Amino acid sequence: MNNFPKTHLHSVEKASALDSKVRLLLQNPRRILRKIIHPGMTVLDLGCGTGYFTLEIAELLEKKGKVIAADVQKGMLDVLILKLGNSELQKQIQIHNNPENTLNLTEKVDFIFAFYAFHEMKFIDNITNDLQKILKTETNILISEQKFHVSKYAFNAIIQKLENIGFEVYKRPKIFLSRTAIMKIKTQTPVILYK
Ligand SMILES: C[S@@+](CC[C@H](N)C(=O)[O-])C[C@H]1O[C@@H](n2cnc3c(N)ncnc32)[C@H](O)[C@@H]1O
Repeated sequence: MNNFPKTHLHSVEKASALDSKVRLLLQNPRRILRKIIHPGMTVLDLGCGTGYFTLEIAELLEKKGKVIAADVQKGMLDVLILKLGNSELQKQIQIHNNPENTLNLTEKVDFIFAFYAFHEMKFIDNITNDLQKILKTETNILISEQKFHVSKYAFNAIIQKLENIGFEVYKRPKIFLSRTAIMKIKTQTPVILYK
């Protein structure tokens, strides 16, 4: 990723940090997701890790629609699969192990949720190009990055890459210790999914 700090993947050995009790208090998934995820949506949880948000997204879909849980690390997805067990939520979740340099998806999505993921992407331009192929005119994206890991400059550079594929920022929700933006497709009269 040009002009960005060196990227590295959150290791599977430290996956439990993503599901800590403290995080549940400070970054409660339901609080973050309830205004943006609605029944019937197809949601891409990009860089889903252990599925900290995936499970809540699936709940909020209320059995209508689905969430594509995408991650480059099979080990992360294995944790998610373990968590799911025989849960009914399985029906709402499509596990997707994409290679690092491509998303490998064709299905169009209503919402892209990318939490603490973009700064880890070595081939961010490939990924944003691939995202462009699965957009609908009303697709929204939430991008969030950790303040201590990602400078304002680096965050804005990610935003710029999303602007290059047609998005614009329309909301900056506050999430603990994070830089966050919700974006919609520029050329359209606002079809804003954040309610
Ligand atoms: C810090 S973790 C965050 C996980 C989850 N979003 C959360 O907030 O709990 C970032 C995740 O992004 C994944 N990732 C990094 N590059 C990726 C890429 N090109 N495509 C898909 N996932 C990627 C990593 O494997 C890791 O699981």
